[in-house]
Amino acid sequence: MDLKDYVRDIKDFPSDGIVFKDVTPLLGNPIALKFAAEALLALVENQKIDKVVGMESRGFFFASMLASELKAGFVPVRKSGKLPYKTMSEAFSLEYGTDTLEIHIDGIKEGEKVLVHDDVLATGGTAAAVCKLVERLGGEIVQCNFLIELDFLKGSEKLKNYSVKSLLHY
Ligand code: PRP
Ligand code: MG
Repeated sequence: MDLKDYVRDIKDFPSDGIVFKDVTPLLGNPIALKFAAEALLALVENQKIDKVVGMESRGFFFASMLASELKAGFVPVRKSGKLPYKTMSEAFSLEYGTDTLEIHIDGIKEGEKVLVHDDVLATGGTAAAVCKLVERLGGEIVQCNFLIELDFLKGSEKLKNYSVKSLLHY
């Protein structure tokens, strides 16, 4: 099965000049959804994972599925002001300005093995900030795992200390 058949390009979304990779056809097709979840799981070589960290919003699609399959816990990273308990924050640069991501301070315990998952690796700013949060809490990153990697944006260079695995490359 070619999962790229279920990813559509949307021109000029969310702003002019951006070609957005829309994975809703993949999510909406029961066979493609199961195939993608199993293929993402197969990317994880060392399956002794304590926590899967997924980032708002689109990282949530597969991160909790992966957690369930790996018999790990799921930990959300959210945009600022969304998590109810005590948080640790990490700011990162966007094309224009900065954004802040947060994790609950008790989300990861010292020494826990962590899989970081997101739908898309673009410039790598989001994933690098999430990795910093995990490490500041004492977690050990086993793999950064993505449904889609936009190779031309070289996001993996921001993650060169980690094992980076992506299912689909563009
Ligand atoms: C998108 C995508 C990744 C991030 C990748 O999320 O889902 O999380 O951008 O970009 P980067 O590698 O350049 O940091 P977005 O911030 O658009 O939010 P969403 O997931 O809530 O839609
Ligand atoms: Mg996102």
